[in-house]
Amino acid sequence: MTELLALGAKQKQESTQLPLFAENLDSFWDKEIRPLFTDESLCFKVKTRNGNHIKYVNLDNGATTTPFATLKQHVDEMLDTYGSVHRGSGQKSIITTREYDASRDVIREFVGSSSQNYVIFAKNTTEAINGAATLWAKKPGKILVSDIEHSSNLLPWVTRDEVVQYRTQPDGSVSVAEIEDIFKAHENRPEAERIKLLTITGASTITGYRPPIYEIAALAHRYRAKMFADVCQLIQHERVDMRADDDPCHLDFVAFSGHKMYAPYGTGVLLGPKEFFDSSYPYQIGGGNLPYITRNLEIKRFYTERAHDPGTPNAMGAIAIAKAIQIIEALGRDRIAEYEHSLVEFTYTRLKLIPGVKVHIPGDNLAHVIPFDINGFDGRLVAEILAQEYGIGVRAGAFCTYEYIRKLKNISDEQDCEIAKQVESGITRNIPSIIRASFAVYNTLEDCDRFIDAISEIARNGLDHYLPNYKQDETTGVWSVIDK
Ligand SMILES: Cc1ncc(COP(=O)(O)O)c(C=O)c1O
Repeated sequence: MTELLALGAKQKQESTQLPLFAENLDSFWDKEIRPLFTDESLCFKVKTRNGNHIKYVNLDNGATTTPFATLKQHVDEMLDTYGSVHRGSGQKSIITTREYDASRDVIREFVGSSSQNYVIFAKNTTEAINGAATLWAKKPGKILVSDIEHSSNLLPWVTRDEVVQYRTQPDGSVSVAEIEDIFKAHENRPEAERIKLLTITGASTITGYRPPIYEIAALAHRYRAKMFADVCQLIQHERVDMRADDDPCHLDFVAFSGHKMYAPYGTGVLLGPKEFFDSSYPYQIGGGNLPYITRNLEIKRFYTERAHDPGTPNAMGAIAIAKAIQIIEALGRDRIAEYEHSLVEFTYTRLKLIPGVKVHIPGDNLAHVIPFDINGFDGRLVAEILAQEYGIGVRAGAFCTYEYIRKLKNISDEQDCEIAKQVESGITRNIPSIIRASFAVYNTLEDCDRFIDAISEIARNGLDHYLPNYKQDETTGVWSVIDK
């Protein structure tokens, strides 16, 4: 870390606008973050196009994250005593069942949930929201959904229920007053026509924009609707608090994924009120989630979380999330937020000064991701160059947030129709895309510096410099290195 210390000192001298971390940035990383990850993952080397082996810089953390090392050890240990959950009387079964059930309490506490909420496991956020949407579809009323959602918080509702879409501002930000207008317009209609649930992201996957979810929750409750927040891009970065049930700003439902919070073991979580789940018929049924079936096929049900936990669960996934939570709590969520913010702000302030670079951050909503473009370049080519020439992983694409990206790229209705026509004929090349650098707690100032240097160089070199070495697939738009 000596290089990093020197770099940090140099950069602090260079700019008085650098964020001030309450404690020494390098020592926080060195002493507390670094030991949480294996050297193999932190120092993973990749071969670049010129044949060099260099340390990989992972700036694609909005997609998924590297597991905590101690979590790997913990899961390995738990596998030694692994047994059937809720179904056996042997010791291994008792140990695994105890740990599995205990993970629910850890999760509940982590999100400040009341004891009146169930913790339902799914394989990821997508499955958690599909589960919730299936149950909500049986209740009368409409779902209010924003137009900046990831498709995982849009399609499960759209395909099962009647949806009212809230159109955000041109930059994707939310006007609470406009949401209220929608509630008002539905307020005095028959129950089937009223808004029963509002669902919105806690943080945008593409810009990091954080809608004011607590204010929106208070509004939803005023109009007798429930509030669902997809917090899978928020919870690993900052505190999410569902709050007490009698707090008007409380979140009724939240969903998130273990793999985005350093626990990639195949589990996601849905939390919501007991009374909602107990009054809903489980959306998947079979072994383990009901106590009895009569000879006449009458099904007796549980009125516990088990009713919504069909089959043999992914116990290791649940245990892994709980362990990740304990590690995050020990590190301190506020310190994580401050540390990550320092890195993002450091990168953002430099990136936007590079000639030819356009950063797409609405207002001053800088969060944990930086979406940007370089003039004249297809974003997917930039991502490919970053990987092939600089050993830096980012992502370029539409990020499953098609309307938000249309807004950011000013795509007209005519262009939208043309793209759709092309997609129908198999051409996906012209779907708008953007480049996203997304940060996690294991990133360092050195990573940021390498990234900024790489982007400056790419922008300076210009497109023509790269075209002899890269080719684009006419149909998919994917870029690859030309073998010579
Ligand atoms: C805001 C948001 N919601 C939902 C999802 C889907 O998450 P998962 O792939 O874990 O189901 C993502 C994935 O990136 C996301 O960013």
